[in-house]
Amino acid sequence: MFRTIEWLDDNTVRLVDQTKLPLKVEFIETSSHERIAESIRTMEIRGAPAIGAAAAMGMALAALESNARTKDDLLDYLEKAAETLNTRPTAVNLTWATTRMLKVARETEGSPSAIVERLIAEAKEIAEEDVQMCRRIGENALSLIRPGFTIQTICNAGSLATVHLGTVGGVVRVAHERYGDIKVYAAETRPRQQGARLTVFEFMEDGIDTTLITDGMIGTVFREGRVDCCVVGADRILKTGHVINKIGTYTMAITAHYHGIPFYVAAPTSTVDMVTELEDVVIEERSPDEVRIINGEYITVPDAKVYNPAFDITPPELVTAIITDRGVIEAPTEEKMRSIFS
Ligand code: MRU
Repeated sequence: MFRTIEWLDDNTVRLVDQTKLPLKVEFIETSSHERIAESIRTMEIRGAPAIGAAAAMGMALAALESNARTKDDLLDYLEKAAETLNTRPTAVNLTWATTRMLKVARETEGSPSAIVERLIAEAKEIAEEDVQMCRRIGENALSLIRPGFTIQTICNAGSLATVHLGTVGGVVRVAHERYGDIKVYAAETRPRQQGARLTVFEFMEDGIDTTLITDGMIGTVFREGRVDCCVVGADRILKTGHVINKIGTYTMAITAHYHGIPFYVAAPTSTVDMVTELEDVVIEERSPDEVRIINGEYITVPDAKVYNPAFDITPPELVTAIITDRGVIEAPTEEKMRSIFS
């Protein structure tokens, strides 16, 4: 798989347009932080770690654009850019990245141009760390994934949801590299179909045996014993072990629990939020038309009333283990989360 997002030598950013996949592989190149914000908002780039990397690169582009003569002017510009880039509320990686970039800008001594250079380096480092974290997630998962396993997933937490490799993608790819016979069941993931459009595409590109199902088929697939475990990504994991991820994850976790199928969550440190309380988590609600329209055509009454939360919350008692770059947390509790992430 190609990299989802890259900083190029001419100080522009290149990202694959995920709204066009899998039918067209088209790239967007920009030197504007506002264009990056637009890409995050419209989901040309999506997936928690990928939008974190995009926001970091957006901050570096903003620093280049600012032409600030003083550090204070540069910081003012960057604070506004951070607000522009924080376009989606649920994935913590977005504010994690803009906060980290602002901190670096504040703490760097020297001229505005020295700070700009430092921010470009930091954005590249965030992207590189993401790739390394995904590989470590995959390596840590080897204690749970056995040869010949079939893994059920939802949404896309593969290479396209990160800079490269993926979180669930890391688990699948590293196990497949090791054992050679890992298979995947991908749930379609209504309404945006990230499972059908992106997960199936990228695993097939890498020669991994992948079966597409609609979301409503999960119970039957579990009852028929077709999968050995579930591995899903996360947009935010709280200190209590609550997992916020794509809508449908909670239903999958309940169904897995009923059938005694292990339910694993794969996520990097940048997705762990040890601060926000459960009641303060904001679940993004997206446009009703995402549910009413498929491929430009209404599939229901055009003014049908719609509820369209993009994410849901899975409680820790339904999570068999959280697989992170820092290790595996079985049956997550606040104490175990604190021992690894405080
Ligand atoms: O709305 P999206 O496509 O950005 O949602 C993505 C997900 O929910 C992923 O499962 C999550 O970000 C983990 S990606 C490694």
